[in-house]
Amino acid sequence: MDADPYAGFPPGFFDRSDEAPDAGFYRSPRLVTHIDDGAIAAVGQLYADLGIDGDAPRPVRVLDLMSSWVSHFGTPPAELVVLGMNAAELAANPAATERLVHDLNADPRVPLPDDDVDAVVCCVSIDYLTRPVEVLAEAARVLRPGGHLAITYSNRCFPTKAVRGWLATDDQQHGAVVAELVRRAGGFTEPTVQLRTRPGTGDPLYAVTATRLA
Ligand SMILES: C[S@@+](CC[C@H](N)C(=O)[O-])C[C@H]1O[C@@H](n2cnc3c(N)ncnc32)[C@H](O)[C@@H]1O
Repeated sequence: MDADPYAGFPPGFFDRSDEAPDAGFYRSPRLVTHIDDGAIAAVGQLYADLGIDGDAPRPVRVLDLMSSWVSHFGTPPAELVVLGMNAAELAANPAATERLVHDLNADPRVPLPDDDVDAVVCCVSIDYLTRPVEVLAEAARVLRPGGHLAITYSNRCFPTKAVRGWLATDDQQHGAVVAELVRRAGGFTEPTVQLRTRPGTGDPLYAVTATRLA
């Protein structure tokens, strides 16, 4: 990671209109879905295609970053660590085998050891990170070589908690931004950006994926 991992981004890109600590905003559980059924199915299909769900030929251990009560796996992996802001949401996640309440904006370090997981996923949440490069560098650290990173996003958000740069850019630009953040984190193959839903059929679901380098 460079000394200034955000060099070249416009000033204020990672600021938010609500700069209060995230603990307040996420204090009450939201047992809702943030994308429609088609987009949820697309997330599950992405994980199946990457071989990181419970149908993989060998048991896998996955970290769901910025998680809630649903992780969208068609078949949950053997081990699923969920990290998010709200303990009640994480407690209600039936696929989870470990739960971590942790504010990545207060401390971007992921409380797991090096080379600990086979995949890191982050669903419809990357836009809330104020230090995403540091968090993605942590994803690289906890991933085993060859492990998958899968970041998905759609076109909805909590606008007061999304960073200003996300609100000022469109779906295509979001893919370019997320791919650049992955590059700046280091440790990954060149990221790919894909639209995983059919255009015009409901919430779009985009995926940015990369693999941990050896
Ligand atoms: C839009 S919800 C998405 C939840 C889940 N990933 C899903 O697909 O339904 C945003 C999630 O990001 C998590 N989150 C927001 N800010 C966070 C932070 N600073 N640190 C860790 N998690 C955060 C919240 O706990 C919340 O569950």
